[in-house]
Amino acid sequence: MHADFRSLPADPASAAALADQGLRYELVGDDEGRQDAFSQAVARGFHGGAPDEQALVEMRESSRERRAIGVWDDSAAEPLIPIATVDSWPTPLRVPGGRDLEAWAISVVTVAPTHRRRGIARGLLEGELRAAVANGTPLAILTVSESTIYGRYGFGPATWSAELAIDTKRARWVGPTPAGRVQLVSREAIRDAALGIEERARAAGGIPTWRGHWDRQLGLRRSEASKSADIRAVRYDDEAGEPRGFAAYRVKDAGADFTRHPVEVIDLVAATADAYAALWRYLLELDLVHEVVAHQRSVDEPVTWMVSDARAVRTRSVTDHLWARILDVPRCLEGRTWQRSGRLVLDVADNLDLAGGRFALEVDEAGAARVTATDEAPDLTLGVAALSSALLGGASPIALAAAGRLEGDAAAVERLHGMAVTPVPPCLGFWF
Ligand SMILES: CC(C)(COP(=O)(O)OP(=O)(O)OC[C@H]1O[C@@H](n2cnc3c(N)ncnc32)[C@H](O)[C@@H]1OP(=O)(O)O)[C@@H](O)C(=O)NCCC(=O)NCCS
Repeated sequence: MHADFRSLPADPASAAALADQGLRYELVGDDEGRQDAFSQAVARGFHGGAPDEQALVEMRESSRERRAIGVWDDSAAEPLIPIATVDSWPTPLRVPGGRDLEAWAISVVTVAPTHRRRGIARGLLEGELRAAVANGTPLAILTVSESTIYGRYGFGPATWSAELAIDTKRARWVGPTPAGRVQLVSREAIRDAALGIEERARAAGGIPTWRGHWDRQLGLRRSEASKSADIRAVRYDDEAGEPRGFAAYRVKDAGADFTRHPVEVIDLVAATADAYAALWRYLLELDLVHEVVAHQRSVDEPVTWMVSDARAVRTRSVTDHLWARILDVPRCLEGRTWQRSGRLVLDVADNLDLAGGRFALEVDEAGAARVTATDEAPDLTLGVAALSSALLGGASPIALAAAGRLEGDAAAVERLHGMAVTPVPPCLGFWF
């Protein structure tokens, strides 16, 4: 990794492409005035309100921890506010088998409405991918609000999230009864315990959270205090008194019938099976509540099996969530554990010429991979986006082949399927 990823220079190729349009593509750096202008541009890009002084101070925290890039148009009416933004940071990403792979997380991709559709987002994204390569990072990741944009840069969806709506009047608890305790605690107490619990809970598809993330999730930023006073929090302590999980939730307005409050789960994080069961039970047994809705959950939640009536748990939607982009095929494929042994020659196409090539993937009985460049005839031909989708074990190579995103004979497709797909689907429980 580069000694200080924040000072990796702005990508020269993107800077040159944007300079041709009279635009300056530059690191935001440590100047607070530039950081605040960047935050204003991000808020505007995502249709948020103008941040006040307090919000700007709070947003400087991420400016200090991330590598932020702005694009400035000196001819604009407000030339100090960038017309495009992106930021990034290297982070561990949990992969199948329990190890971490370093990933380049990309966030706040925005282009001002006055400047869109002239290739500025392309300059930002390609610049990030080349910066990640320059940093020696083998993979880029992002969560997307607009899912149609990122495939062209080699990203593929790699985790999926479900929105669950549980009818609590039907959902009688038949799951385990753990011996620990669920305790009502302050949101500050949850924030203080969250990082430790989250790190133990992190499964494939997960990246570590940070304190500012919990300040935002739990409504602890001073600038958002008035919007979040209704957030409640509970913690699960095991028999020895160790915190093992927590949930934050909000009881919403019941309307005319006071017995029918909807509950929105803001987060439920469990480092043990006991914590998971105890926290769900707590939420589903809240009185005066008829429905519990949770977002960004796994597509295979055990809670479905913990209630008497499985139809009480409705999956309202399943959407792609984390998108991945392999930048170094051998390091990514060797980084994870595979489900079965086998050998396949993969021909990987990459239209940005960052990671493509022909590789022999050899997996031993323990699931460990060795990946070498080869000129043998390929068993499978696929784009880097499809391979990135399969990396975390959540995408089906059989479905990718049926969709024409992976080519090869049926036996080779099934072999990759058996090797790649994991029994527990990868999951990332939040946006970044
Ligand atoms: C989405 C956004 C960043 C695109 O910026 P942009 O500078 O207009 O994009 P570009 O001109 O570089 O276009 C890049 C490519 O994406 C396509 N594209 C851009 N926006 C798109 C959209 N909303 N839907 C589908 N395709 C889109 C373009 O057609 C172009 O394709 P091509 O290179 O194959 O011709 C910008 O519209 C924006 O800031 N939107 C609001 C914030 C947002 O949605 N951010 C994305 C968060 S995931």
